[in-house]
Amino acid sequence: MSQLALLEQEARDTIERTDSLKSLDEVRVSLLGKKGVLTEQLKALGAASVEEKKTKGKELNLLKQTVTELIDARQQELERATINKRLSEERVDITLPIREEQRGSIHPITQVLDEITAIFADFGFSVAEGPDIEDDFHNFTALNIPESHPARQMHDTFYLQAKDDKGDHMVLRTHTSPVQVRTMMTQKPPIRIIAPGSTYRCDSDMTHTPMFHQVEGLVIDKGIHFGHLKGILRQFVEAFFGVSNVPMQFRPSFFPFTEPSAEVDIGCRKGKGELVIGEGSDWLEVLGCGMVHPNVLRNCGLDPDEWQGFAFGMGVERLAMLKYNIPDLRTFFESDLRWLQHYGFRAFDIPSLIKGL
Ligand code: DAH
Repeated sequence: MSQLALLEQEARDTIERTDSLKSLDEVRVSLLGKKGVLTEQLKALGAASVEEKKTKGKELNLLKQTVTELIDARQQELERATINKRLSEERVDITLPIREEQRGSIHPITQVLDEITAIFADFGFSVAEGPDIEDDFHNFTALNIPESHPARQMHDTFYLQAKDDKGDHMVLRTHTSPVQVRTMMTQKPPIRIIAPGSTYRCDSDMTHTPMFHQVEGLVIDKGIHFGHLKGILRQFVEAFFGVSNVPMQFRPSFFPFTEPSAEVDIGCRKGKGELVIGEGSDWLEVLGCGMVHPNVLRNCGLDPDEWQGFAFGMGVERLAMLKYNIPDLRTFFESDLRWLQHYGFRAFDIPSLIKGL
């Protein structure tokens, strides 16, 4: 075997045996580098005869090309093997089920707020927001509850030290109705909003907590009448409780910001530790509502001869208790993990009208 054929055989063996990119690089240097075997041989040709230069030079260059190709091919193989190794090592098994010991769940209040929002979104309402710390104007005056009006005593207000521009103490909002005012003062009618949020009253007993939640509703448009209000509320109640033809009664009532005003009761049967909505001869109050008072429209810069509307306000805890048979209001805010695990909802079950609430 000629010396060059021997060299080629050796090179082939070595390249084939290399098992890492690093050692392949070393092989490349030892053969083709500045001081590599092949480079040295090519250099040595300088001193050879013309004839030898021609034949050996050709052979050497051919060998150089073969060796380069062999090294490149081996390099590709090794690179592919490295990637495949990484891919199999770093593989995430997405078929693994969610572990059952997961603890987090959705609080019934959040769930019910999401349900109410989903229903009204379907009716074309958008969500409006306002601050928890309100000024006197938005919480009372604009809503037709002037200072020293007895209606102020309907609310056990938390007053803050801080005062507003007019020198009145700021308050923790006692209801979500101030969001009506904010919306009417900043948006042009037609308006169709709900305002979910926290509310505060200085009251704490079996049936009251100092912080609770309401959802306010407001529709302002031309030619709006009480029939529209009844229609929307009936559809809401039926979607929320998942019962059709629920008996409903609109009982005349008083709120300073609506005229006429009503409280809405739904028909139910109260049994031993259970409550069935939509049948039986008992009544349960679920919300307050009415036609927006002309004074409120005027206070918000709207002409009552041009625009009419209705509003409603509902207590979220109450709706949650009725729908999910939760007997005690105070447990909502005790942060008892066992309670949360019992009454909580799965995080991935997002309420929607299509899927069912
Ligand atoms: N703001 C009332 C409350 O907290 C609830 C309410 C009643 C809101 C009638 C309304 C309404 O918008 O029209 O007791």
